[in-house]
Amino acid sequence: MDFTLTSDEPKVIRAYAKINLSLEVLGRRPDGYHSLVSVMQEISLADEILICPAAGVDVVADDPLVGTSDNLAGAAARLLMRASREVRGARISLHKHIPVAAGLAGGSADAAATLVSLNRISRAGLPVRRLLTLAARLGSDVPFFLYGGTCLVLGRGEHVVPLPAPAPVWYALSNPGIPVSTARVFMELPRCEWSNGRATESIADDVRQGKVRLGPNDLQTTLFRLYPAARHCFDRQVALAPGRTSVTGSGPTVYSACSSMHEAHDIAAQMRDAGYWADVARSVNPRPGENPCRSGS
Ligand code: C5P
Repeated sequence: MDFTLTSDEPKVIRAYAKINLSLEVLGRRPDGYHSLVSVMQEISLADEILICPAAGVDVVADDPLVGTSDNLAGAAARLLMRASREVRGARISLHKHIPVAAGLAGGSADAAATLVSLNRISRAGLPVRRLLTLAARLGSDVPFFLYGGTCLVLGRGEHVVPLPAPAPVWYALSNPGIPVSTARVFMELPRCEWSNGRATESIADDVRQGKVRLGPNDLQTTLFRLYPAARHCFDRQVALAPGRTSVTGSGPTVYSACSSMHEAHDIAAQMRDAGYWADVARSVNPRPGENPCRSGS
């Protein structure tokens, strides 16, 4: 995400989406969540957020699928209000580009961007460690966005190990335009789909060598069983990019690692012609001063 703020002026913040280059589920935890091992990659598909300090919290969004009363960005602002007397509230305007409930963690990205930006704008000065605790309370994917770039993510999602930026990659993205319930996919996930995390550790090792390779997604089979439209979308795109196409998170968004921007646009255009939502995005590297958990920030 781009958290750059140079003055008190309200500023449009870009909250980048993520894809999972690999996602393994190790088991179910006593708290009902699942233990994960995942390599997550920030991508350039982004929401635009305008945050103005205000009394109380008010969220508006230009996507009817986004709930404004139960919105995660609003929850982030309220959490910050409770954590610091300096924060009196915020008016948050969300211009959505990231599809909602699509495995791209758009709501989590918006929440992380709100947390960090409002902390700065309001001069609350909460340290990074405290922001990370608040992020984990908001949702499993939120802590990742405080690091950004490419990371190995463990536990419920709250343990984030930053990885060096691998070679840049263009991705073609598509989905069937149906919202997927992450909770439902996890709930219906049978034990036999769990694994040991080794494939993902190996993907992380490759990233450390600068290489990008796609690993398994343990949620994919259950997603396809519950949402057949997700399988149809995947089958269509995998035929265009065999061996380098996967599902992100609990889906239904499908992505292909492409050899060029041109190829990514070509695949996205073919998926759009077939009736799917489609877009292209490139991998995003963290930049000093923007992602608070990266050194130099
Ligand atoms: O943390 P978040 O609210 O984004 O998770 C949505 C749902 O996905 C949770 O309510 C839980 O059912 C499931 N989940 C899980 N294990 C995780 C992350 C999410 O079971 N590590």
